[in-house]
Amino acid sequence: MLGRTAKSLRDQFGRSRLNWAAIGSDAQALDRLASELPSWFPPGSGQGHGVKTRARAVIWTNPQAFAQAAHMLLFRAQGLTQAAAHHDRRALMLNARALGHACGSCHSRFRAHSGWW
Ligand code: HEC
Repeated sequence: MLGRTAKSLRDQFGRSRLNWAAIGSDAQALDRLASELPSWFPPGSGQGHGVKTRARAVIWTNPQAFAQAAHMLLFRAQGLTQAAAHHDRRALMLNARALGHACGSCHSRFRAHSGWW
């Protein structure tokens, strides 16, 4: 879900005339996903519980750091929503880059290695 929405958002950026309505709805979807993200990882759902997952145990041993990483994402998603509401292209690009960084920094700490992301 996160991956698909972020991609849809990136696809919008490639256009010379931005479709603000589409960007706004993607930004809002990201906003919602970001606020729900912490609830996707309840205690007892990690590796070693018989679940096939790349979520690393540190999510549960250091929940504050994980919540913080999730909060960074939410913060950036809200920045995107704002930028879309104001049709502010500069703020949009700034927040989009920072959003990508928020994805990556959480993955590098909390997700087992992946070859493609
Ligand atoms: C707070 C931490 C965190 C943030 C922020 C985060 N992710 Fe993830 N993401 C994870 C974890 C942990 C997994 C591994 C989940 C698993 O394997 O069960 C994951 C898995 C994924 C996957 C693999 C899909 C799947 O079902 O295995 C994709 C795609 C993805 N994230 C995209 C994104 C994108 C795009 C963003 C930013 C818009 C993002 N993520 C932000 C923690 C995060």
